[in-house]
Amino acid sequence: MARFRVLLTLLPVAYALSVPFPYDSGQAIFTGNQPADLPHPDPTHSFWTHSPGANPLAGEGSTGELTDNADVCIIGSGITGVSAAYHLANSIQHGTFPVAQGTNQVLRAVILEARDFCSGATGRNGGNLTPYEFSRFRKQEALFGREAALRLYALERYSASEMARIARTAGWADAVDLVEGGHMDVLFTEEVLQEAKADFEAAVAAGKTLNVTWLDRDEMNSTYGTHNLGARTPGYNVWPLKFVTQLFKQARKVTPALDLRLHTRTPVTRVSPLAAASLRRWELTTPRGAVQCSYVLHATNGYASHLLPHMAGSGPTGIIPVRGQVMAMRANAPLDALSKISWADSVGYWFPRPVADAEAHPLVILGGARESAGSPFEMGVTDDSVVNATVGGVLRALLPTLFPGLYAPGREPEAEWTGIMGYTALGIPFVGPVLDTSDAEGEDSDAYKGQFIAAGYHGHGMPRTFACAEVVVQMIAAELSDREWVAPAWFPRPFLTSVRDKLE
Ligand SMILES: Cc1cc2nc3c(=O)[nH]c(=O)nc-3n(C[C@H](O)[C@H](O)[C@H](O)COP(=O)(O)OP(=O)(O)OC[C@H]3O[C@@H](n4cnc5c(N)ncnc54)[C@H](O)[C@@H]3O)c2cc1C
Ligand SMILES: *[C@@H]1O[C@H](CO)[C@@H](O)[C@H](O)[C@H]1NC(C)=O
Ligand SMILES: *[C@@H]1O[C@H](CO)[C@@H](O)[C@H](O)[C@H]1NC(C)=O
Ligand SMILES: *[C@@H]1O[C@H](CO)[C@@H](O)[C@H](O)[C@H]1NC(C)=O
Repeated sequence: MARFRVLLTLLPVAYALSVPFPYDSGQAIFTGNQPADLPHPDPTHSFWTHSPGANPLAGEGSTGELTDNADVCIIGSGITGVSAAYHLANSIQHGTFPVAQGTNQVLRAVILEARDFCSGATGRNGGNLTPYEFSRFRKQEALFGREAALRLYALERYSASEMARIARTAGWADAVDLVEGGHMDVLFTEEVLQEAKADFEAAVAAGKTLNVTWLDRDEMNSTYGTHNLGARTPGYNVWPLKFVTQLFKQARKVTPALDLRLHTRTPVTRVSPLAAASLRRWELTTPRGAVQCSYVLHATNGYASHLLPHMAGSGPTGIIPVRGQVMAMRANAPLDALSKISWADSVGYWFPRPVADAEAHPLVILGGARESAGSPFEMGVTDDSVVNATVGGVLRALLPTLFPGLYAPGREPEAEWTGIMGYTALGIPFVGPVLDTSDAEGEDSDAYKGQFIAAGYHGHGMPRTFACAEVVVQMIAAELSDREWVAPAWFPRPFLTSVRDKLE
């Protein structure tokens, strides 16, 4: 602990004081308002994307003829875009998504991806699939009210448990390294513990059923090798790219009534309206030609404001690109000594990868420490072609300090990379029709008719994207069937694009 205190004093005050989750400190100081760039053409190599054989769809549809029109065009092949395709397939199969007459009863959807398949945040993240159980409950309740706060947690639980259920049912849970190992928050001080307990109690008072194990320093030391306080909750870890690859393959298999196509290495540079008499409503410009679309889904997360410049900046309707950093570090002990848990403290988040051989020392995926880069904390950055040496230094020192003996001081990571997250002023994503409410004259809700968005997960998308993509698909289905969209019981209204600007 003493050594860890030394590490903390090297860092900005806001950082040392931040509560156990690393995702949203530093936001207020960022005031940039430039639209995001397109994804960098030459990103760093992540362990997930560049392990041999890990990305069989990397270049799918990048050459040959471009699909020139589709009923639904999805921009982005991360977990949001591919989840949307999966929900589309299942909704068609269940008869809740109408397939138009006159197109041979087949709905055509196309995913357009600027780089390799799933090479955005989903291919570069920390692999933690941790639904928040009570973290920041008091803050969420104060911001959004009790009902919406409860739904925010319900959505995460739904998303994560559905993902696990689908992987298990389809028989590919092991192939995507899905581990139901639980999650541990390391709490450094009694004050941080009291804050966490106050959130826990507020969530229970609001009616949430929780399964939390509180561990004292001695229990933590004897069981896990770190003399700190701990709070254990349910949670998973996974190989995100492999999960998304399987989900994509499944989406293609569900029904012949969905013609699902994928064009990687095909950046969309512009979305423009087509003449009213056209079959389709929108035209996407790409270097390979144009794609005409009836519906457009922006599944571009941190990059959303490139095509939607009115969503740039740190205001209430903005999505800011923020660079995060992750590494794959070899532990100095077998998995048994490390546990299958995913972990977080106020500096970073990490988990040991599954191993085939019980004696082997696992690779640990470790990310965070963004705050150590100093103001503006990697905000407004879309360049994931480089790593930040300052951030890398703090990450290298983290685990040997926290778990003496279990990690070798001075050891170099086997891979180190960056990726781009999408932060929002309220820490929650935008889900629904694209709206431009920035105009003081009032909203012109038809200006983007047919365009939808699910983006801005604030560095915490793994347990949110799947459910948000489902909602957007339901909205498109409702519009096509001329029905009113009805929100699922777990959906928090503040996520809606239509209520967001009224929330401040
Ligand atoms: C370093 C890092 C660590 C993280 N760790 C975790 C974690 O451990 N747990 C967790 O829950 N969350 C984590 N996150 C956040 C999580 O990864 C994201 O919230 C989630 O992956 C978002 O998925 P997405 O599909 O919306 O976005 P992305 O995966 O970023 O997909 C968007 C895609 O759109 C493409 N694109 C963008 N613009 C265009 C365009 N104009 N034309 C064509 N294609 C375009 C991009 O290339 C990209 O592939 C982390 C993120 C990062 C970057
Ligand atoms: C609560 O969580 C622990 C692990 O942290 C698990 O062993 C136990 O089965 C869980 N209990 C319930 C009721 O889910
Ligand atoms: C933590 O456990 C280790 C190994 O059992 C022991 O050597 C060490 O003294 C313990 N630390 C504290 C502060 O109790
Ligand atoms: C990394 O962060 C440091 C400290 O703030 C900063 O000076 C440096 O420019 C950053 N490096 C890169 C590659 O952006």
